[in-house]
Formats: sequence, C-alpha cells, structure tokens
Amino acid sequence: MKLSFLSLVALATSIHAAPGDGDWAAAYAKAKAALPKLSTANKVGMVTGKGWQKGPCVGNVAAVAAIGFPDLCLQDGPLGVRYAQQVTAFPAGITTGSTWDTSLFYAFGNALGAEAKALGVHVQLGPVAGPLGKIPTGGRNWEGFSNDPYLSGVAMANSISGMQAAGVQACAKHLLGNEQERLRDTQSANIDDRTNHELYLWPFAEAVRANVSSVMCSYNKLNTTWACESKALLTDLLKDELDFQGYVVSDWNAQHTTVGSALAGMDMSMPGDNFGDNKFLWGTALTNALSSNQIPMSRVDDMVTRILAAWYLVGQDTNYPKVTGWTSWNGGKGGPNVQGDHKTLARKMARDGIVLLKNTDGALPLKKPASLAVIGSDSIVNPQGPNACVDRGCNTGTLAMGWGSGTADFPYLIAPLDAIKAQAAKDGTTVTSSPNDTPSSGASAASAAATALVFINSDAGEGYITVEGNAGDRINLDPWHNGNALVAAVAAANKKTIVVIHSVGPLLLESILSSPNVIAIVWAGLPGQESGNALVDILYGSTSPSGKLPYTIAKQASDYGTSVINGDDSYPEGLFIDYRRFDKNGIAPRYEFGFGLSYTTFAYSGLTISPLSTAPGSTTPAPGGPKGLYDVLATVTATITNNGTVAGAEVAQLYIGLPGSAPASPPKQLRGFSKVFLEVGAKATVSFPLRRKDLSFWDTGKKMWVLPSGSFSVMVGASSRDLRLTGTLA
Ligand code: BGC
Repeated sequence: MKLSFLSLVALATSIHAAPGDGDWAAAYAKAKAALPKLSTANKVGMVTGKGWQKGPCVGNVAAVAAIGFPDLCLQDGPLGVRYAQQVTAFPAGITTGSTWDTSLFYAFGNALGAEAKALGVHVQLGPVAGPLGKIPTGGRNWEGFSNDPYLSGVAMANSISGMQAAGVQACAKHLLGNEQERLRDTQSANIDDRTNHELYLWPFAEAVRANVSSVMCSYNKLNTTWACESKALLTDLLKDELDFQGYVVSDWNAQHTTVGSALAGMDMSMPGDNFGDNKFLWGTALTNALSSNQIPMSRVDDMVTRILAAWYLVGQDTNYPKVTGWTSWNGGKGGPNVQGDHKTLARKMARDGIVLLKNTDGALPLKKPASLAVIGSDSIVNPQGPNACVDRGCNTGTLAMGWGSGTADFPYLIAPLDAIKAQAAKDGTTVTSSPNDTPSSGASAASAAATALVFINSDAGEGYITVEGNAGDRINLDPWHNGNALVAAVAAANKKTIVVIHSVGPLLLESILSSPNVIAIVWAGLPGQESGNALVDILYGSTSPSGKLPYTIAKQASDYGTSVINGDDSYPEGLFIDYRRFDKNGIAPRYEFGFGLSYTTFAYSGLTISPLSTAPGSTTPAPGGPKGLYDVLATVTATITNNGTVAGAEVAQLYIGLPGSAPASPPKQLRGFSKVFLEVGAKATVSFPLRRKDLSFWDTGKKMWVLPSGSFSVMVGASSRDLRLTGTLA
C-alpha cells in the first residue's frame, strides 16, 4: 500500500498519545455510587492482597458481589503475560524502545492488553519507566524503553493507551528511584527536586497523562523514606501535582507499616502478606487502625473509590472474561491460546528494534554467500528448551529476554541458526555451525566459510536470581561467556566477520572493533520469540534496519559516570546521565544515543521553526500536571528524503538546548522524534510539536515549571551527534 504524502505527515506528528480517551469523571460517578453499598470488611478486602499464591494471579484482591466487583487479578509483566503458556513473548521494553516507533508502542500495548484480557487479567503489571536506566549495569533496565525520559515517556503513554483501549488496566512501575537491584530493599535514592522532575518523574507524568489506571511504588527509599510510605511522593507529587486519578499499588512486599503507608497515599497492598508468611500489614490490622482512628475512614474510602474508578474507566464492569486458572501454583495448565496473529507484530517489533552499528563497504545485507559459518551458543535455543530456567534465570542458548518477574514463557523461540538455515536453503548457501563459545571451534568453522556470523550476548535481571555471578545487576559491560575471545578467534580466521549481539544494555565494543576483520555489527537487543526471523529480515535486507540506540554505547565504563552503589545513592550526577553527560563533559561516545545505520541514506532539509507562543498556560489541574504544561508553544518541521537506493525508515530526532537564562542544563535534550518510512526518492515532512513542558526547566525555588526567556537552540538530525539542521527559537 502506498501512503500519500498527507498521511505521512499525519503519521509523523502523532508522537503523543492524546490525553487518554478514558473519562475519569464518568468512572468516578459510578465509583461514588457504588461506595455506599460496601461494608468496611468489603473495603478492607478490596485494598488488601489475599496473600502470596492465595489466588490464581501474582496479586489478587477479594470480590464484592453486591457491586459485581470480581476477584481482581494482577499479573506480570511488561513483555507478556507471566506464568501462562500460550501467550506471545514480545521483545523486551528496551528493544521496543529501540524502534522509536509510536504506532508500534501503541500496537504492542494493545496486543498485550488483548492477551491479558482474554486470560481474565484485570491489571497487567507494566510498562516500566523505573529504573530509567541511569546505571548501565542496572539489572532491570531492559524492562523499560530508554534512559531518556522523553523517549521513555512517549513509549509509556502510547503503550498504556494501547493496553487500556484493549480493556486491561496498565500499571506504571516502579515509582521511584529503583535504579539498581543491589540493596533495592534498603537503599535510599536521594534525588533533588529538579533532577526528579526532569528525569525520573517525567515518564510517569506522561503515563498519568495517558490515564494510567495504577502506579506501583518501588522497594527502595526516596529521600530516606520508603517509596510506598512517602507522602511527598505518592500524595504531593503523584496525586496532587500530577493529578493522578487511579490507585497506587505496592511492589510485592514493599509496604512497611500499616498506618504510614495508608496516610502516605498507598491504595492497595500486594501481595498482602510477606510472600506467604500470612502476616498482613493491612487486612485486620487496617480494620483495627480504622477503629482506633489512626486512619480516617475517608482515606480508605478514597483507596476504594480510586480502585473502583480505574476498574470502571477501562470498562471492566461489563462482560469481562473470568480468570481461567493458568498459573502453575493453581494447578493450571497454561491457559487457552490467546496469541491471535500477534507473532507478526512481535516480529516487526524485533526487526525494527535492531540497530545496525557498523557496516563496512555494504557488508550487509548478505547477498547469497556461497558459505556461512554460524558461531556461538547464542545462535541456538537452550537445548533444554527456551523456558528451562524458571523466570529465565540462566543464560544458556540465544538470549531473547532478561530474567526475573518481567518475563513470560516463550510459546516458541526462533533460533537465529534455524532462521538462517531456512534462508540459506533458498539461496543455496552451505551453513557450518559451531553452536558453542569455544574460540578454537569457532575459528575452525569460520576458516572454511565465505562469511562468519558470530553471536555473543549479555544478560541481566531481577536480583532474586543470580546468574553466573550476576546478582541482577551486571558485573561489567563485557560480553558473557568470554565473547571477546570468541570474536577475536573468529575474526582472526575470517576476513568477513559479522558480529550479532543480544544484550540487555550497552557493552564495551572496543575489543571487537580492534579487529579490522569485523566488518559489521548487528545490535539485536532482546527480541522475544521471533528472534531468528526478525534477524533474517535484516541480515538479508528484506527490510532495511531502522532501529536507533535508546542509550549511549561508551568506549569505557567510567565514561558513564554512574555505577551500582553499595549504600545510599545521592545521585551526584544530577541531570547528567547518558548523552547529557557525554555532551557536557565533551566525552566521545563509541556509538551515541540515537545512532543507527540503514541500508539507504536520508537527506535532511527545509527546517522551519514557528514563532514561540508565550500566552500564559492554564493552571487547571489535569492528569499529567497543570493543563497549560502541555500546550503546544511552537512547532518545528523538516523534510526527510530517501536519497539512497533502497526503501527504508528513518527516525528523525529533535533536540533542544535551553537558553542561558535557565540554570545549568544539558547542552541538548531529546524533545521530539518521528519515524517515517520512505520509498527510494520519496520525501516526507516531519513535524515536532513542542509543548510548554518540553521547553521548560523545573524551578526548585518556585516549585514549578518555568519557560526560560532567551533563545533556544533547535537541532534536528539522525542521532544525538549527527545533527543535520540547526536553528533557534526565540
Ligand atoms: C517486582 C515487580 C513485580 C512483582 C510481582 C516484584 O518483585 O519488582 O515488578 O510486578 O514482583 O511479581
């Protein structure tokens, strides 16, 4: 199908999900009408989890027959329905983020939401914006989309809109400052107010603006108070400043007190007890605290009203499927097949999330090579099966998701080797396989082949599982299983060595790049079930690569300026994480934030910058913050032309530098992006609407967003360091 020029423009401007379609006023009216029908026991039952493994889902609260409220089912996670068996295992958040594709963010949320609903899940526990990913070795960064708050925010808003349109409640997690797995239950994240607003809270504000039903408070402390006990966080920031209408659910056992959590603004306790010890901080203890007036009934009424309103908001009060009991501890058999045709979407996401880092002399796409060597344990599926390790807690065979609660069971996993063999059979290519990480075997396979494809990886996950010495967070930024040695041996044996990397986050590539025989590097992220198929689409050029890095790849670990801390973290780097730091300190990255090659080339031209509107914005509260914060004050446009030789998609990026009148700020910050698919010779106008918030800084003294006066630098380009068009906005 050919898209008209007009529809391309429309496509290119739909970056922000509209403030969610949900109607909170109508939902609240229903919730308030239902409230008087509830006894105190009903109310306490609705806010207290039944206890770990006391129901079919990872979280369950009690039904109230009088109002048709069901046993509520809360289930992980961000990339698929956990503990079910015939569900789609989508690419992880970080690979979804690498697509920079707003419509894919929505389509993904919608498909995940449809599967969750079909299984009777009411609350699907994702997406993730915390950790944001300030620490490159952080164990759970891969569950989220990017360490840039703007990209993360757009992905949060659109995936939430998709999920909730499908009928499931989304849960934005983990609020806030859970940036590492080490000491996650005790560490205090001490984040100053400006840094918090401009980085960590930002994507949650976008989630709230998209009408997210629920928010999960995190395990750690924020500014010395437990996140789930922090009134400053849950009430002042989230519910008052951001006007969040839904409910706050605790992370599993992140609640610490009966009264403190309630008064701080927590609304639902999960899993209820402490992972099966039958000791409940709410339940009877909450009833007692109500009787002794330690907690006012109005607070519990507010909790219940919020839970009910969220349930009504997404229409779960009519014809919602029943939970069919598919989790293992419930004696479940995995549940019905709810995948529909989502494998097509999963493949597209995985393919469009692949980032081509290096491609010397058009080494890729492959052109029917006479012979290929496919090397590395990462090229095949774990011989014990893709789900052999509980919660993917091992790194055996090809890596397609990290480990922990943010996983799902693979319905199948397409191995790179198998997909390559299928293509090779069509091309008449001979394939030699060395599916292990032993350098000598890799070298002997490579020496006999025209081209060598070597697979390496790096894994991470949640801290309750330790894999090969990595207790959630990664020990370092090197490939696992001695991947550098494997690549070195293969490259020494073959002048056309192509490296494919599956990774949870950045790796140091200096060793690999030191070999001139490494002619291409394909960054395949965490692709989910369609791994091999998506990779073949790119390797053989049926699709031109269009992913861009959602973080920076540095030359050395110290360049990031952040690492896992063995105690409280005072966030001394402030705003200067990832590219913001590299820019400020003049550090040359290896591959910068936003970087990614294509098989074609794009020209940038015709920058236009509309005048800045300075009309004062409305201070009326609205989900996401005062309404006027989201007024569009200026619009930047540019023309992108495919001036290369094959069709392809480009992610045009807009960066803004604040005027000198603002307090010390990052030299540039992402404030718009647009992905356009262009046939050879075609062009499209991309349009970047700039909202007041996109041009403001958080004034700590005034406690508000302030639009600085002076001239803003406007930079449009293909990455954060490949800026093709510049101008100013005064
Ligand atoms: C994780 C959450 C998850 C919950 C329920 C916790 O350990 O931090 O992300 O939703 O468990 O499984």
